[in-house]
Amino acid sequence: MSFLKDELEKFLQDRPRSRELWERSIQVLPGGISHNIRDLGLPSIEAFPVFINSAHDAYLIDVDEIEYVDFWMGHFALILGHNHPEIKQVIQEELEKGWHFGTVIENQVKLAETLIHDNSSLEEVRFCTSGTESTMYATRLARAFTRKRLVAKVKMGWHGPNDTLFYNVKSPFVGRETPGILKEEEAGILTFEMNDSSVKDLIRENKQNLAAVILEPVLGGGGGFPVDHEFLKMLREETERFNILLIFDEVITGYRFNYGLFQNHVKVLPDLTTMGKVIGGGMPVGAVGGREEIIEQANPQVKNRVWIGGGTFSANPLSMVAGLKTLEILKGSNQEYLRNNQAGTELLSKLNKFFQEQKLKLVVTGYKSLILLHVLSQWVENPSPNEIIALTDHTGEALAQMALLNRHCTGMHGIGALSFVHTPKHLRLVQEALEEIAFPLSKT
Ligand SMILES: Cc1ncc(COP(=O)(O)O)c(C=O)c1O
Repeated sequence: MSFLKDELEKFLQDRPRSRELWERSIQVLPGGISHNIRDLGLPSIEAFPVFINSAHDAYLIDVDEIEYVDFWMGHFALILGHNHPEIKQVIQEELEKGWHFGTVIENQVKLAETLIHDNSSLEEVRFCTSGTESTMYATRLARAFTRKRLVAKVKMGWHGPNDTLFYNVKSPFVGRETPGILKEEEAGILTFEMNDSSVKDLIRENKQNLAAVILEPVLGGGGGFPVDHEFLKMLREETERFNILLIFDEVITGYRFNYGLFQNHVKVLPDLTTMGKVIGGGMPVGAVGGREEIIEQANPQVKNRVWIGGGTFSANPLSMVAGLKTLEILKGSNQEYLRNNQAGTELLSKLNKFFQEQKLKLVVTGYKSLILLHVLSQWVENPSPNEIIALTDHTGEALAQMALLNRHCTGMHGIGALSFVHTPKHLRLVQEALEEIAFPLSKT
Protein backbone atom coordinates (compact mmCIF):
# COMPACT_ATOMS: atom_id res chain seq x y z
CA MET A 1 0.00 0.00 0.00
CA SER A 2 1.19 3.51 -0.66
CA PHE A 3 2.16 5.92 2.09
CA LEU A 4 -0.94 8.02 1.33
CA LYS A 5 -3.27 5.04 1.54
CA ASP A 6 -1.73 3.77 4.78
CA GLU A 7 -1.85 7.15 6.44
CA LEU A 8 -5.37 7.88 5.23
CA GLU A 9 -6.67 4.56 6.48
CA LYS A 10 -5.26 5.17 9.95
CA PHE A 11 -6.47 8.77 9.95
CA LEU A 12 -10.06 7.85 9.05
CA GLN A 13 -10.23 4.89 11.35
CA ASP A 14 -9.27 6.86 14.47
CA ARG A 15 -11.51 9.88 13.91
CA PRO A 16 -15.19 8.97 13.48
CA ARG A 17 -16.52 11.98 15.39
CA SER A 18 -14.41 14.52 13.45
CA ARG A 19 -15.52 12.85 10.24
CA GLU A 20 -19.17 13.20 11.15
CA LEU A 21 -18.71 16.87 12.05
CA TRP A 22 -16.83 17.47 8.83
CA GLU A 23 -19.62 15.97 6.77
CA ARG A 24 -22.05 18.35 8.47
CA SER A 25 -19.65 21.29 8.10
CA ILE A 26 -19.32 21.10 4.37
CA GLN A 27 -23.12 21.33 4.08
CA VAL A 28 -23.32 24.66 5.85
CA LEU A 29 -19.93 26.40 5.64
CA PRO A 30 -18.13 27.00 2.33
CA GLY A 31 -15.32 24.46 2.27
CA GLY A 32 -16.38 23.43 5.78
CA ILE A 33 -14.37 26.22 7.40
CA SER A 34 -14.41 29.78 8.71
CA HIS A 35 -10.74 30.53 8.04
CA ASN A 36 -9.23 29.42 4.77
CA ILE A 37 -6.16 27.67 6.06
CA ARG A 38 -7.84 25.70 8.80
CA ASP A 39 -8.59 22.76 6.55
CA LEU A 40 -4.80 22.21 6.37
CA GLY A 41 -5.27 21.23 2.71
CA LEU A 42 -6.60 17.88 3.93
CA PRO A 43 -9.76 17.71 1.77
CA SER A 44 -7.48 17.53 -1.30
CA ILE A 45 -6.40 14.05 -0.12
CA GLU A 46 -9.87 12.87 0.97
CA ALA A 47 -9.20 13.70 4.63
CA PHE A 48 -10.49 16.52 6.83
CA PRO A 49 -9.30 18.74 9.66
CA VAL A 50 -9.72 17.43 13.18
CA PHE A 51 -12.25 19.18 15.41
CA ILE A 52 -10.68 20.42 18.59
CA ASN A 53 -12.60 20.32 21.80
CA SER A 54 -10.14 21.51 24.42
CA ALA A 55 -6.57 22.61 24.96
CA HIS A 56 -3.99 23.07 27.67
CA ASP A 57 -0.31 23.96 27.74
CA ALA A 58 1.19 22.59 24.51
CA TYR A 59 -1.73 20.27 23.76
CA LEU A 60 -4.92 20.20 21.72
CA ILE A 61 -7.47 17.44 22.29
CA ASP A 62 -9.91 16.59 19.54
CA VAL A 63 -13.49 15.34 19.67
CA ASP A 64 -12.25 11.74 19.28
CA GLU A 65 -10.13 12.31 22.38
CA ILE A 66 -6.85 12.22 20.50
CA GLU A 67 -4.18 14.49 21.95
CA TYR A 68 -1.78 16.48 19.78
CA VAL A 69 1.25 18.60 20.56
CA ASP A 70 0.20 21.88 19.00
CA PHE A 71 2.74 23.97 17.12
CA TRP A 72 0.23 26.37 15.62
CA MET A 73 -0.62 27.98 18.95
CA GLY A 74 -3.70 29.87 17.85
CA HIS A 75 -2.22 31.44 14.72
CA PHE A 76 1.01 32.25 16.65
CA ALA A 77 -0.93 34.27 19.24
CA LEU A 78 -0.39 32.01 22.26
CA ILE A 79 3.24 32.46 23.13
CA LEU A 80 2.46 31.39 26.71
CA GLY A 81 0.66 28.25 25.59
CA HIS A 82 -2.96 27.18 25.87
CA ASN A 83 -5.03 27.91 28.93
CA HIS A 84 -2.30 29.73 30.80
CA PRO A 85 -3.54 29.83 34.41
CA GLU A 86 -2.88 33.53 35.02
CA ILE A 87 -4.49 34.61 31.75
CA LYS A 88 -7.43 32.34 32.45
CA GLN A 89 -7.85 33.85 35.88
CA VAL A 90 -7.99 37.47 34.69
CA ILE A 91 -10.42 36.51 31.94
CA GLN A 92 -12.63 34.71 34.46
CA GLU A 93 -12.54 37.69 36.80
CA GLU A 94 -13.43 40.00 33.93
CA LEU A 95 -16.28 37.72 32.87
CA GLU A 96 -17.80 38.07 36.30
CA LYS A 97 -18.07 41.81 35.71
CA GLY A 98 -19.46 41.52 32.17
CA TRP A 99 -17.75 40.99 28.85
CA HIS A 100 -18.92 43.61 26.44
CA PHE A 101 -19.72 47.13 27.51
CA GLY A 102 -19.23 49.00 24.23
CA THR A 103 -17.73 51.88 26.23
CA VAL A 104 -14.32 53.21 27.12
CA ILE A 105 -12.60 51.11 29.78
CA GLU A 106 -9.58 51.51 32.02
CA ASN A 107 -7.68 48.52 30.63
CA GLN A 108 -7.54 49.98 27.12
CA VAL A 109 -5.69 52.96 28.59
CA LYS A 110 -3.35 50.66 30.48
CA LEU A 111 -2.61 48.48 27.46
CA ALA A 112 -1.97 51.53 25.28
CA GLU A 113 0.29 52.99 27.99
CA THR A 114 2.23 49.73 28.19
CA LEU A 115 2.74 49.50 24.43
CA ILE A 116 3.83 53.14 24.27
CA HIS A 117 6.14 52.76 27.25
CA ASP A 118 7.79 49.67 25.73
CA ASN A 119 8.27 50.98 22.20
CA SER A 120 9.70 54.37 21.37
CA SER A 121 8.13 54.58 17.88
CA LEU A 122 4.66 54.45 19.41
CA GLU A 123 3.29 57.78 20.61
CA GLU A 124 -0.39 56.89 20.27
CA VAL A 125 -2.31 53.68 19.64
CA ARG A 126 -5.76 52.84 18.30
CA PHE A 127 -7.17 49.38 19.07
CA CYS A 128 -9.36 47.32 16.77
CA THR A 129 -10.29 43.65 16.69
CA SER A 130 -7.96 42.10 14.12
CA GLY A 131 -4.65 42.49 12.37
CA THR A 132 -6.52 42.69 9.07
CA GLU A 133 -8.22 45.86 10.20
CA SER A 134 -5.01 47.31 11.61
CA THR A 135 -3.12 47.13 8.31
CA MET A 136 -6.08 48.59 6.40
CA TYR A 137 -6.21 51.49 8.86
CA ALA A 138 -2.46 52.05 8.80
CA THR A 139 -2.45 52.47 5.02
CA ARG A 140 -5.49 54.74 5.19
CA LEU A 141 -3.78 56.95 7.76
CA ALA A 142 -0.65 57.04 5.59
CA ARG A 143 -2.54 58.01 2.46
CA ALA A 144 -4.40 60.74 4.29
CA PHE A 145 -1.29 62.07 6.01
CA THR A 146 0.89 62.25 2.92
CA ARG A 147 -1.99 63.06 0.54
CA LYS A 148 -0.54 60.47 -1.81
CA ARG A 149 -2.21 57.50 -3.42
CA LEU A 150 0.19 54.59 -3.83
CA VAL A 151 1.25 51.97 -1.31
CA ALA A 152 4.20 49.63 -1.90
CA LYS A 153 3.97 46.23 -0.26
CA VAL A 154 6.44 43.38 -0.14
CA LYS A 155 5.84 40.32 -2.30
CA MET A 156 4.60 37.39 -0.14
CA GLY A 157 3.65 39.80 2.65
CA TRP A 158 0.36 38.73 4.25
CA HIS A 159 -1.34 41.63 5.97
CA GLY A 160 -4.76 39.99 6.21
CA PRO A 161 -7.24 39.75 3.33
CA ASN A 162 -8.51 43.35 3.40
CA ASP A 163 -9.30 45.05 0.07
CA THR A 164 -6.28 47.34 0.48
CA LEU A 165 -3.38 44.91 0.72
CA PHE A 166 -4.47 41.52 -0.59
CA TYR A 167 -2.08 41.62 -3.53
CA ASN A 168 0.90 39.44 -4.50
CA VAL A 169 0.77 37.28 -1.43
CA LYS A 170 0.86 33.83 -3.00
CA SER A 171 2.64 32.19 -5.90
CA PRO A 172 2.31 32.77 -8.89
CA PHE A 173 2.02 36.43 -7.77
CA VAL A 174 -0.34 37.74 -10.39
CA GLY A 175 -1.49 40.83 -8.51
CA ARG A 176 -4.86 40.71 -6.82
CA GLU A 177 -5.38 37.53 -4.84
CA THR A 178 -9.11 37.32 -5.27
CA PRO A 179 -11.86 38.27 -7.64
CA GLY A 180 -14.02 40.99 -6.13
CA ILE A 181 -11.31 43.53 -5.36
CA LEU A 182 -9.79 46.19 -7.59
CA LYS A 183 -6.91 45.36 -9.87
CA GLU A 184 -3.50 46.25 -8.47
CA GLU A 185 -3.10 49.42 -10.60
CA GLU A 186 -6.59 50.67 -9.72
CA ALA A 187 -6.02 49.93 -6.05
CA GLY A 188 -2.78 51.89 -6.10
CA ILE A 189 -0.60 48.98 -5.02
CA LEU A 190 3.03 48.47 -6.03
CA THR A 191 4.99 45.39 -5.06
CA PHE A 192 8.67 44.84 -4.32
CA GLU A 193 10.84 41.81 -3.47
CA MET A 194 12.30 41.48 -0.01
CA ASN A 195 16.04 42.10 0.18
CA ASP A 196 16.12 43.35 -3.43
CA SER A 197 17.67 46.78 -3.70
CA SER A 198 15.68 47.58 -6.85
CA VAL A 199 13.00 48.80 -4.44
CA LYS A 200 15.10 51.98 -4.33
CA ASP A 201 14.26 52.64 -7.98
CA LEU A 202 10.60 51.88 -7.33
CA ILE A 203 10.54 54.37 -4.47
CA ARG A 204 12.36 57.06 -6.41
CA GLU A 205 10.29 56.64 -9.57
CA ASN A 206 7.05 56.90 -7.58
CA LYS A 207 8.11 59.27 -4.85
CA GLN A 208 5.57 61.95 -5.79
CA ASN A 209 2.66 59.52 -5.41
CA LEU A 210 3.93 56.98 -2.90
CA ALA A 211 2.28 57.29 0.50
CA ALA A 212 3.79 54.31 2.29
CA VAL A 213 5.91 51.21 2.18
CA ILE A 214 4.60 48.32 4.27
CA LEU A 215 6.27 45.06 5.21
CA GLU A 216 6.77 42.59 8.01
CA PRO A 217 10.34 42.54 9.32
CA VAL A 218 10.06 38.73 9.24
CA LEU A 219 7.76 37.48 6.50
CA GLY A 220 5.60 35.15 8.56
CA GLY A 221 2.96 34.06 6.07
CA GLY A 222 5.55 33.61 3.32
CA GLY A 223 7.52 31.15 5.38
CA GLY A 224 9.10 32.97 8.29
CA PHE A 225 11.74 34.57 6.08
CA PRO A 226 13.70 37.23 7.97
CA VAL A 227 14.27 40.44 6.05
CA ASP A 228 17.91 41.67 6.07
CA HIS A 229 18.41 44.36 8.66
CA GLU A 230 20.37 46.42 6.16
CA PHE A 231 17.41 46.26 3.79
CA LEU A 232 15.12 47.56 6.55
CA LYS A 233 17.57 50.38 7.28
CA MET A 234 17.76 51.28 3.61
CA LEU A 235 13.94 51.40 3.43
CA ARG A 236 13.90 53.70 6.44
CA GLU A 237 16.42 56.08 4.83
CA GLU A 238 14.75 56.12 1.43
CA THR A 239 11.22 56.63 2.75
CA GLU A 240 12.33 59.39 5.10
CA ARG A 241 14.11 61.17 2.27
CA PHE A 242 10.97 61.38 0.13
CA ASN A 243 8.25 61.98 2.71
CA ILE A 244 6.96 58.44 2.42
CA LEU A 245 5.78 56.62 5.54
CA LEU A 246 7.32 53.33 6.59
CA ILE A 247 4.88 50.85 8.13
CA PHE A 248 6.05 47.72 9.90
CA ASP A 249 3.45 45.01 10.22
CA GLU A 250 4.37 43.49 13.56
CA VAL A 251 1.21 41.44 13.98
CA ILE A 252 3.41 38.33 14.24
CA THR A 253 6.79 39.74 15.26
CA GLY A 254 5.57 42.03 18.06
CA TYR A 255 6.57 40.53 21.42
CA ARG A 256 7.41 37.21 19.76
CA PHE A 257 11.21 37.11 19.80
CA ASN A 258 11.87 39.54 22.61
CA TYR A 259 9.87 41.71 24.94
CA GLY A 260 8.61 44.58 22.79
CA LEU A 261 8.39 45.14 19.07
CA PHE A 262 10.95 43.57 16.74
CA GLN A 263 11.88 47.04 15.42
CA ASN A 264 13.65 47.83 18.71
CA HIS A 265 15.89 44.83 18.23
CA VAL A 266 16.87 45.85 14.67
CA LYS A 267 16.92 49.55 15.62
CA VAL A 268 14.84 50.63 12.65
CA LEU A 269 11.86 52.66 13.73
CA PRO A 270 8.91 52.99 11.35
CA ASP A 271 6.33 55.77 11.30
CA LEU A 272 3.46 53.37 11.89
CA THR A 273 3.26 49.86 13.32
CA THR A 274 0.44 47.36 13.15
CA MET A 275 0.03 44.84 15.94
CA GLY A 276 -2.15 41.89 16.95
CA LYS A 277 -1.86 38.25 18.08
CA VAL A 278 0.43 38.12 21.17
CA ILE A 279 -0.65 41.53 22.51
CA GLY A 280 -4.21 40.21 22.91
CA GLY A 281 -3.18 37.17 24.95
CA GLY A 282 -5.24 34.87 22.72
CA MET A 283 -8.28 37.14 22.54
CA PRO A 284 -9.26 39.04 19.35
CA VAL A 285 -7.13 42.14 18.93
CA GLY A 286 -5.51 44.50 16.48
CA ALA A 287 -3.80 47.83 16.96
CA VAL A 288 -2.21 50.55 14.92
CA GLY A 289 0.28 52.84 16.56
CA GLY A 290 2.96 55.32 15.66
CA ARG A 291 3.83 58.98 15.42
CA GLU A 292 1.31 61.15 17.22
CA GLU A 293 0.71 63.53 14.31
CA ILE A 294 -0.26 60.60 12.07
CA ILE A 295 -2.42 58.68 14.55
CA GLU A 296 -3.99 61.89 15.86
CA GLN A 297 -5.70 62.26 12.48
CA ALA A 298 -8.11 59.64 13.85
CA ASN A 299 -9.26 61.91 16.68
CA PRO A 300 -12.97 62.64 16.03
CA GLN A 301 -12.42 66.17 17.38
CA VAL A 302 -9.96 67.18 14.65
CA LYS A 303 -11.02 68.76 11.39
CA ASN A 304 -11.04 66.34 8.46
CA ARG A 305 -10.42 63.42 10.76
CA VAL A 306 -9.48 60.13 9.20
CA TRP A 307 -12.10 57.57 10.02
CA ILE A 308 -10.55 54.40 11.34
CA GLY A 309 -12.16 51.92 13.69
CA GLY A 310 -15.81 51.61 14.45
CA GLY A 311 -15.68 47.94 15.41
CA THR A 312 -18.39 46.76 17.77
CA PHE A 313 -15.86 44.69 19.70
CA SER A 314 -12.79 46.94 19.49
CA ALA A 315 -10.77 47.14 22.72
CA ASN A 316 -13.18 44.68 24.30
CA PRO A 317 -12.63 43.99 28.01
CA LEU A 318 -11.49 40.39 27.58
CA SER A 319 -8.85 41.23 24.96
CA MET A 320 -7.55 44.17 26.93
CA VAL A 321 -7.20 42.28 30.19
CA ALA A 322 -5.70 39.18 28.53
CA GLY A 323 -3.25 41.38 26.60
CA LEU A 324 -2.21 43.30 29.70
CA LYS A 325 -1.61 40.14 31.71
CA THR A 326 0.32 38.56 28.85
CA LEU A 327 2.63 41.55 28.54
CA GLU A 328 3.10 41.63 32.31
CA ILE A 329 4.24 37.99 32.24
CA LEU A 330 6.38 38.49 29.14
CA LYS A 331 8.15 41.41 30.71
CA GLY A 332 9.84 39.10 33.19
CA SER A 333 10.47 36.36 30.66
CA ASN A 334 13.86 37.14 29.14
CA GLN A 335 15.16 33.66 29.88
CA GLU A 336 12.07 32.06 28.33
CA TYR A 337 12.43 34.18 25.21
CA LEU A 338 16.07 33.17 24.91
CA ARG A 339 15.28 29.50 25.41
CA ASN A 340 12.38 29.58 22.97
CA ASN A 341 14.37 31.37 20.29
CA GLN A 342 17.27 29.01 20.72
CA ALA A 343 15.03 25.92 20.64
CA GLY A 344 13.58 27.10 17.32
CA THR A 345 16.97 27.86 15.81
CA GLU A 346 18.30 24.45 16.82
CA LEU A 347 15.26 22.53 15.59
CA LEU A 348 15.39 24.33 12.25
CA SER A 349 19.05 23.61 11.72
CA LYS A 350 18.79 19.94 12.80
CA LEU A 351 15.87 19.31 10.46
CA ASN A 352 17.43 21.07 7.49
CA LYS A 353 20.73 19.26 8.02
CA PHE A 354 18.87 15.96 7.95
CA PHE A 355 16.75 16.84 4.88
CA GLN A 356 19.76 18.14 2.99
CA GLU A 357 22.08 15.25 3.84
CA GLN A 358 19.45 12.71 2.84
CA LYS A 359 18.42 14.74 -0.22
CA LEU A 360 14.80 14.77 0.89
CA LYS A 361 12.20 17.10 -0.64
CA LEU A 362 11.46 18.85 2.63
CA VAL A 363 12.77 22.10 3.98
CA VAL A 364 12.02 24.20 7.03
CA THR A 365 12.24 27.95 7.01
CA GLY A 366 11.85 30.40 9.80
CA TYR A 367 13.43 32.63 12.32
CA LYS A 368 13.99 31.84 15.97
CA SER A 369 10.67 30.51 17.33
CA LEU A 370 8.89 30.58 13.95
CA ILE A 371 9.40 27.35 11.99
CA LEU A 372 7.49 26.45 8.86
CA LEU A 373 7.70 23.22 6.93
CA HIS A 374 7.60 23.08 3.15
CA VAL A 375 7.28 20.00 0.98
CA LEU A 376 8.75 20.58 -2.47
CA SER A 377 8.17 18.82 -5.77
CA GLN A 378 11.90 18.00 -5.94
CA TRP A 379 15.01 18.12 -3.82
CA VAL A 380 16.96 21.35 -4.17
CA GLU A 381 20.24 22.18 -2.50
CA ASN A 382 19.61 24.96 0.03
CA PRO A 383 16.60 26.39 -1.81
CA SER A 384 16.00 30.15 -1.81
CA PRO A 385 12.66 31.59 -0.64
CA ASN A 386 11.62 32.06 -4.27
CA GLU A 387 12.51 28.46 -5.15
CA ILE A 388 10.61 27.20 -2.13
CA ILE A 389 7.50 29.14 -3.07
CA ALA A 390 7.71 28.12 -6.73
CA LEU A 391 8.32 24.42 -6.01
CA THR A 392 5.77 23.92 -3.23
CA ASP A 393 3.98 20.59 -3.52
CA HIS A 394 0.57 21.30 -1.99
CA THR A 395 -0.55 17.67 -2.03
CA GLY A 396 2.70 16.67 -0.38
CA GLU A 397 2.11 19.29 2.29
CA ALA A 398 -1.41 18.00 2.95
CA LEU A 399 -0.03 14.49 3.26
CA ALA A 400 2.64 15.72 5.68
CA GLN A 401 -0.08 17.35 7.80
CA MET A 402 -2.07 14.14 7.94
CA ALA A 403 1.01 12.04 8.73
CA LEU A 404 1.91 14.46 11.53
CA LEU A 405 -1.61 14.28 12.95
CA ASN A 406 -1.27 10.49 12.94
CA ARG A 407 1.88 11.02 15.03
CA HIS A 408 0.20 13.35 17.52
CA CYS A 409 1.62 16.61 16.23
CA THR A 410 -0.21 19.45 14.60
CA GLY A 411 0.71 22.82 13.26
CA MET A 412 0.26 25.07 10.31
CA HIS A 413 2.85 24.46 7.63
CA GLY A 414 3.66 21.35 9.67
CA ILE A 415 5.07 23.27 12.58
CA GLY A 416 4.44 26.96 13.20
CA ALA A 417 5.50 28.76 16.31
CA LEU A 418 7.16 27.48 19.43
CA SER A 419 5.82 28.75 22.71
CA PHE A 420 7.14 28.86 26.24
CA VAL A 421 5.32 25.63 27.10
CA HIS A 422 7.11 23.53 24.48
CA THR A 423 9.68 21.30 26.12
CA PRO A 424 12.56 19.29 24.60
CA LYS A 425 10.22 16.26 24.67
CA HIS A 426 7.75 18.03 22.36
CA LEU A 427 10.51 19.12 20.02
CA ARG A 428 11.91 15.60 19.85
CA LEU A 429 8.45 14.28 19.03
CA VAL A 430 8.02 16.57 16.04
CA GLN A 431 11.61 16.09 14.90
CA GLU A 432 11.32 12.30 14.97
CA ALA A 433 7.92 12.40 13.28
CA LEU A 434 9.26 14.59 10.49
CA GLU A 435 12.38 12.51 10.01
CA GLU A 436 10.24 9.38 9.81
CA ILE A 437 7.76 10.72 7.28
CA ALA A 438 10.32 12.60 5.18
CA PHE A 439 11.49 9.43 3.40
CA PRO A 440 8.12 8.15 2.19
CA LEU A 441 7.02 11.72 1.44
CA SER A 442 10.05 12.20 -0.78
CA LYS A 443 9.18 9.11 -2.78
CA THR A 444 5.60 10.17 -3.54
C1 LIG B 1 1.72 39.83 9.49
C2 LIG B 1 0.24 39.74 9.61
N1 LIG B 1 -0.49 40.84 9.42
C3 LIG B 1 -1.83 40.82 9.54
C4 LIG B 1 -2.48 39.66 9.82
C5 LIG B 1 -3.97 39.64 9.94
O1 LIG B 1 -4.30 39.51 11.29
P1 LIG B 1 -5.73 38.89 11.73
O2 LIG B 1 -5.71 37.46 11.34
O3 LIG B 1 -5.77 39.12 13.21
O4 LIG B 1 -6.76 39.66 11.01
C6 LIG B 1 -1.77 38.49 10.02
C7 LIG B 1 -2.45 37.23 10.33
O5 LIG B 1 -1.94 36.16 10.28
C8 LIG B 1 -0.36 38.53 9.90
O6 LIG B 1 0.37 37.43 10.06
